[in-house]
Amino acid sequence: MNLYKGSKIAQSLIHAVQLAYVHGPALIPTHFIPIDMLHYEGVTTLNEFAAMNHLSTDTRCVIDVGSGSGGPGRYLAWTNGCHVLGLEYMQEMANLSHVLSRLLAIPSFSNPAELATFLRDPSTHRPALSHTPQTQTHLKQGSFTVAVADATKFDVHGQGMNGIADAVISQLALLHISDKLGVLGTCRDLLKCGGKGSLWIEDYYIRGDSLTDLECQLLHDHVSVKNPRSDILTQKAYEQCLQESSFVVDDFLDKTNDWTVFVWQRYENFLSIAQSENGQDTDCQREMSVFYYAICMLFRPMSDFDSFYDRFPLSISAGARQWGASSSCEFVHFLRSQPSSLGGARILAHKSQSNPSTQ
Ligand SMILES: C[S@@+](CC[C@H](N)C(=O)[O-])C[C@H]1O[C@@H](n2cnc3c(N)ncnc32)[C@H](O)[C@@H]1O
Repeated sequence: MNLYKGSKIAQSLIHAVQLAYVHGPALIPTHFIPIDMLHYEGVTTLNEFAAMNHLSTDTRCVIDVGSGSGGPGRYLAWTNGCHVLGLEYMQEMANLSHVLSRLLAIPSFSNPAELATFLRDPSTHRPALSHTPQTQTHLKQGSFTVAVADATKFDVHGQGMNGIADAVISQLALLHISDKLGVLGTCRDLLKCGGKGSLWIEDYYIRGDSLTDLECQLLHDHVSVKNPRSDILTQKAYEQCLQESSFVVDDFLDKTNDWTVFVWQRYENFLSIAQSENGQDTDCQREMSVFYYAICMLFRPMSDFDSFYDRFPLSISAGARQWGASSSCEFVHFLRSQPSSLGGARILAHKSQSNPSTQ
């Protein structure tokens, strides 16, 4: 996961402190959206998830699998008063998440077991309260806790978390996880039974027959997908994995068109901001520019990309031009001449009543 290491983390920390300085006591989770929401369509999708799972009623527990720098979890806790546990593989991302939560004064438990104890008997344990009283006035009494863990191996029973979650969300994390049955098994063990759409996955999937070699190369080199041919699934294979893991699939919604618009808009915004900063040519700028462009190429359309060269002459040089990505380049030309085999999906499922053990 090179993308989220080193310069990107450092850049996020600097940006967060700048925002905290500018907003002072009025700082709220949505101010951090440019830093900590790494999925597509930001809070729109989180509001839909919250409404579907009635997160604002009583003590609700949500698990965020692959929680990254924690934006979705903090937002859900702050707007709905629910208790969110993030499972995050990378220590660096968890550290960044802790800093952002502290700046926002979002309460957290010291570990998943403590959260589980509270959820089973809310009268006895409270999350550690924060130190910035002004922010508390905006905050419903939710919490966000992060555990550094490989979600495929998380010790659900050992932490007392079996059957505790009202909903599980995972946004753009499963593409990085080869062991789909492992991670879905963890989701199943964490969830209570019932509730359509209580498992909410947003992920890439194969729309055509198979990914091309070039698409695999982009996914591997720039998106940290270890084995693109086996890690990105077709709809049929995805549904099979879910069924094998004792889930009933409620919906498999193709999000490709929405996400294509989103990723181009994100790239354009990035270039526009970098241009206004005189095209600062930092490591982080270059890495992000190459990453955003690779994602655009994977999803394709956006026909007038060449106009970006006129509009953002400074900032584009940090990324796309560096790897020869103008539309005249052979590589890009070849990609653009073929329809994309990659799609995006929102998959809703619920735990089957008849199976397993964890209720
Ligand atoms: C693209 S980020 C998405 C973060 C977050 N869901 C969001 O939407 O802002 C994917 C995250 O999944 C995490 N991840 C990858 N493999 C994981 C695993 N086996 N267990 C837990 N987290 C994992 C990565 O470290 C990364 O932070």
